Amino acid sequence: MMDGHEVFVVDNYFTGRKRNIEQWLGHENFEMLHQDIVNPLYLEVDQIYHLASPASPPHYMYNPVKTIKTNTVGTINMLGLAKRTKARILIASTSEVYGDPEVHPQPETYWGHVNPIGPRACYDEGKRVAETLAYAYAKQSNVSVRVARIFNTYGPRMHANDGRVVSNFVIQALEDKPLTIYGSGDQTRSFQYVSDLVNGLVLLMNSNYSLPVNIGNPDEHSIITFANIINDMVGGGSSIEHLPAVEDDPQRRRPDISLAKRVLDWEPTVPLKKGLAKTVDYFRKELQRTKHSDRNLPEIHEYSSL
Ligand SMILES: NC(=O)c1ccc[n+]([C@@H]2O[C@H](COP(=O)([O-])OP(=O)(O)OC[C@H]3O[C@@H](n4cnc5c(N)ncnc54)[C@H](O)[C@@H]3O)[C@@H](O)[C@H]2O)c1
Repeated sequence: MMDGHEVFVVDNYFTGRKRNIEQWLGHENFEMLHQDIVNPLYLEVDQIYHLASPASPPHYMYNPVKTIKTNTVGTINMLGLAKRTKARILIASTSEVYGDPEVHPQPETYWGHVNPIGPRACYDEGKRVAETLAYAYAKQSNVSVRVARIFNTYGPRMHANDGRVVSNFVIQALEDKPLTIYGSGDQTRSFQYVSDLVNGLVLLMNSNYSLPVNIGNPDEHSIITFANIINDMVGGGSSIEHLPAVEDDPQRRRPDISLAKRVLDWEPTVPLKKGLAKTVDYFRKELQRTKHSDRNLPEIHEYSSL
């Protein structure tokens, strides 16, 4: 929108919130449609960023059949829209297509290690089918597709209660509650800041490369290290509490981003502590909010880095 494009946002508000887009309501380039992509959608568009899907384990496990429908029927609807309008479509896939990986770090050529009937399967297999559908439409109907395999991403405006590591730790630390770790905490993750992801998605959409590309930050830490960094950043008052390990929880997660560097000339630029500081600041303001009309708007200059 800031570049002059007209943007339609389609959301059924399952995990999204009106509060996240309220600052754009009334903007000349912005239009909001409250719709579920499992139902067909008729619009005229040039590009489609297909991001709709529950994304955190508690949300995608809450209604696994709906998660599969969104990633299969919903993806068919989005690919059908791309076919009809001759728009290019970017599918938001995930590092979860690699499952609990036996190859580390994970390159795009790795086919994955996914349990097809486990509790995460509705999401992992849903996204795998979404990728399959994208290339079937490309082959059969000449649809121009892009596939981003997104690794763990965090930042302001993420859902406060969706059980993701960063938001959980930040909120627990701000509320002086124990930071809860599932299992030993030796499992690793690599977190990227949201503006790095957005830059990568826009570059991929506008590139000539049509096979899947990992978009993530290879800066890998153990979960216990993340807990300590966030605890120190917030004030250091919280203890750490270990809960039983979660079934099928990947033990190691780090993207190999050499392909993105080569074909997109992209790599993440926001250091972990800077991104976390912005996220802590956002959640601190959210927790202090007392009335509905309180806004949590970013500084206007922040849009220049998005
Ligand atoms: N954040 C991450 O770490 C991460 C990692 C890998 C992949 N992804 C993918 O990126 C995309 C965006 O994730 P996010 O982290 O911004 O999550 P999010 O929950 O903030 O955004 C997903 C949006 O999709 C909407 N949605 C869900 N089902 C829908 C449906 N049937 N119809 C219309 N809208 C629907 C939700 O209401 C929400 O606004 C998802 O596809 C997710 O799988 C995210």
